[in-house]
Amino acid sequence: MQMHIPARKNPFRHKLAVLAAICSLAAPIAFAQAAPKAPRKNWPWMNTSLSPMQRANLVLKQMTLDEKIDLLHGNGMPHAAFWKMPLTYLANGGAGAVVGVPRLGIPPIVMDDDAYGVRGSGINGRYSTAMPSDLALASSWDPGIACQYGEILGSELRDQGYNMTLGGGVNLDRDPRDGRTFEFAGEDPLLAGTMVGHMMKCEQAQHIIGDIKHYAINDQETGRNFVDAIISKRAMQESDLLAFHIAISIAHPGAVMCSYNRVNGNFSCQNPYLLRDTLENAWRFKGFVLSDWGGTHSTVRAIKAGLDMEQPMDIYFGPKLKQAVLAGKVSMAEINNSARRVLYSEFADGLVDHPIQKMVPNVRKGFCVAQRVEQHSIVLLKNQDNILPLDPARIHTIAIIGGHANVGMISGGGSAQVDPPGGNVIAPPGHRATYWQAHIWFPTSPLKALRHVMPGTKITYNSGDVLASADALAKSSDLAIVFAHQWESEGMDLPNLSLPGKQNQLIESIAAANPHTIVVLETGTAVTMPWLNKVQGVVEAWYAGSSGHKALANVLIGRVNPSAKLAMTFPLSVNELPRKEIPPLPPATKNAGSDAIMGKIHAIPDYSVHYFEGAKVGYKWYESQHKPVLFPFGFGLSYTTYSYSHLTVAADNHHPTATFTVTNTGHRAGTEIAEVYASLPSASGENYRRLVGWSRVKLNPGQSKTVTVTVSPRMLSIYNTAKSGWQLLPGAYHIYVGPSSATTPLEGTVHLN
Ligand code: BGC
Repeated sequence: MQMHIPARKNPFRHKLAVLAAICSLAAPIAFAQAAPKAPRKNWPWMNTSLSPMQRANLVLKQMTLDEKIDLLHGNGMPHAAFWKMPLTYLANGGAGAVVGVPRLGIPPIVMDDDAYGVRGSGINGRYSTAMPSDLALASSWDPGIACQYGEILGSELRDQGYNMTLGGGVNLDRDPRDGRTFEFAGEDPLLAGTMVGHMMKCEQAQHIIGDIKHYAINDQETGRNFVDAIISKRAMQESDLLAFHIAISIAHPGAVMCSYNRVNGNFSCQNPYLLRDTLENAWRFKGFVLSDWGGTHSTVRAIKAGLDMEQPMDIYFGPKLKQAVLAGKVSMAEINNSARRVLYSEFADGLVDHPIQKMVPNVRKGFCVAQRVEQHSIVLLKNQDNILPLDPARIHTIAIIGGHANVGMISGGGSAQVDPPGGNVIAPPGHRATYWQAHIWFPTSPLKALRHVMPGTKITYNSGDVLASADALAKSSDLAIVFAHQWESEGMDLPNLSLPGKQNQLIESIAAANPHTIVVLETGTAVTMPWLNKVQGVVEAWYAGSSGHKALANVLIGRVNPSAKLAMTFPLSVNELPRKEIPPLPPATKNAGSDAIMGKIHAIPDYSVHYFEGAKVGYKWYESQHKPVLFPFGFGLSYTTYSYSHLTVAADNHHPTATFTVTNTGHRAGTEIAEVYASLPSASGENYRRLVGWSRVKLNPGQSKTVTVTVSPRMLSIYNTAKSGWQLLPGAYHIYVGPSSATTPLEGTVHLN
C-alpha cells in the first residue's frame, strides 16, 4: 500500500527545504580518499621523499624494452567490437588501459571518459552523478565551483575503479555548431582555461591522472578524423593554445590528449609544432601525450614529433615500435623519454602510492554538488517586468509545456554521455538502456520540482504536441513556461542554431495565447530566438545534470538569485558567424573517418577549414566586425541590479590593476560577475577587446564593495611568431569594466613600456 501525504501537510517539507538549502549553501568539501597503503616492497622508487621524476628514473633503469613499450600503447576498448585485445579486460569497462609494470609495483592505468560525469555506468551497471555540462560550469565564472565539480568527477572515477580521467575539454567554441560545444568551456581562452584548469586540478587531486584535451584546434566534428585546420601560428597561440596553456598551468595534468584532426597539414598526434615545440619545449609539460582514440597515424614520425602513447590499440606503438627501435629508427633515448613521462605521471598523480580501492560513490554528495553547480550556472537572459522570480501569492495557475518537463531533462551525448539512474526516462519501461547517440533524458522532472516548491499553485503539464490543446492550457493559466531543448553530441555538428523540430512554432503559439510566457532552454550551445520579443522571460538551464530540476525550481522561485553569465555569445543568426556553414565534406569521404581511426587510412581526403578569423573567436569576432548579437559574451541578469563606479587603473611592474566599486542597487542579495576587458596599442593590429580578468562580488542590498583585479601581462601580450614568444608592446592599454563584453561603463588607460 502506498502512503500518500498531501503536499501542504507533508511533515517533512521543512526538512526537505533545509536539505535543499544545505545543498545550495554548503561550503566546499574535500573528498580526498583515504585509500589504504598498498603492501609494497622496499624498492628505492617507493621512497615518497624523492621527487616524482627521481622515482620515475629509478624505475626506468630496471625496465626492459618490452616493458617500456607496454607503457606506450593501449589494450583495446571494452565496449567497442573493433577494438579488442587480449588484455582489454584491464580497462574495467571504461575507455582503455595501459598495463603498468606490476613486477616493479607500477599499477595499470585504467581510464574512462569523465567530461561531466563517469561514462558507461549504464552498460557497466554502476552509478555516476551527471554534473551540469562543462559549458554550464563555465557560465558560473567560479573557479571554486569548478573545483567542487572536479572533486566529484575524480572521486566517482576512483570509486568505480579507474585511476585516469579522459575529461578536461578546453577546445574553444570557435563555431557554436560544433556538436561538442557542451563539453567545452566557452569561447574565451582566459575563462575556458581558468575553469577547466581548476576543475582538472581538483579532479586530479583524487589520485587520478588528469587529462586536458583535444590538443588542438579540434573545433568541429565534421570530418574530424582528417579535417585540416588552417590557422596562423599567432592566431592559434592567442586563442586555442592559450586556453590549453592556462588550463595546463593551473592543473599540471598528467596527460594531454592530442586530437583527431590535422593542423596546418600535420595530424595533431604527429605535429612537432604542437607537441615538441609548444607543449614540451615552450610550456615545459612533464606528463605524457596520448592520442585520441584511433588518432595515431604512424610510428617513427609520431614518436619523434612528441606522441608518447597510442590509444586504444597498439597498431603503431606496439610491435612496430619495437621493430623501429631494433632497426635504429627510434632511439632508446626517445623510448625512455616517453616511458619516463608515463611513469612520472603515475608517481606525481598518486597512482603508485594510492592504489585503487573500489567503493560505492557518495550518491547524495554528488546530487548536492550537482545542484549547487547548476544554481551557479543557470543564466537569466530576459526578465521583462520582473516576471521572475515567480510569486506564489500572485500566480495561482501555471502551464508547463513541452520538453518532456513532466518526466525529465536532457543530457549531452557521445563519449561524454553520463547514464541516468533507471535509464533513459523518456523510453518505455523495459527499453530504457542507453545507446550511443540516443537522446538521453534524466529523471529530473521540472514539473515535479516546481510543484514541490510551489505547493499552493496549480501546475499543469501539456506536451505541446497538439498546439490547440497547449494553447488552451496556456490561455487558462496565469503564466506559461515552455521547455525547449537542443540535443548535441560528439560525432556530429548542428546544421544551424535553431531549436530543432517545431519548438519555435510552439513558443510563438504559447506566447500568443498568454503574454506571461517564460522559456526555459536546455541546450548545449547558443540558439537563435525568433520569438524573443514575444516572451517575458528566458532562462538558459543548459544540460542541467542530476539535480538540474531542483536547481531550476530554486532559481524560478527566487530561492537562488541567478548570477551566471554566458561563456559564449548567442549570435542573431548563422549569417553572423565567420562561416555561414561548416564547409561540406567532399563526396568521396564516406569511409575515410572510420578508416582513419582504424589505422587503415590510405588517402587522406582533401578537406580543410580555413580559420581566417584567427584569434577573433566569439565576441572578438562580432566586435571587430561590428556585428550585433542576440546576447553578448559575459551577459546574464540577476533578480537585483548593480552599478559600477570609481575606476582607477595602475601599472605596477607590468601588472596592471583595475580598482573599482560595485554596488547592489536592488532589493536582493546577489553575486555580480564584474568583467575587465582591455584593448592593446594599435601596433598589435587588434581591433577588438580581450577579457583580461573578472571578480565575483557578493553584495547585500545597498552594499558597495571596492575590488581590485590584477591583470596578467600574458593576457595583454601578443604572440610574436618571428621570435616564437610572447611580447608586451609598449604603449597605451585601454581598460574597460562592466557587466558584460558589450556593456562596460567604466574606462581607463594605462601606459606600459
Ligand atoms: C573522443 C575522446 C574520448 C575517446 C575515448 C574519442 O572518440 O574524441 O574525447 O576521450 O573517444 O572514449
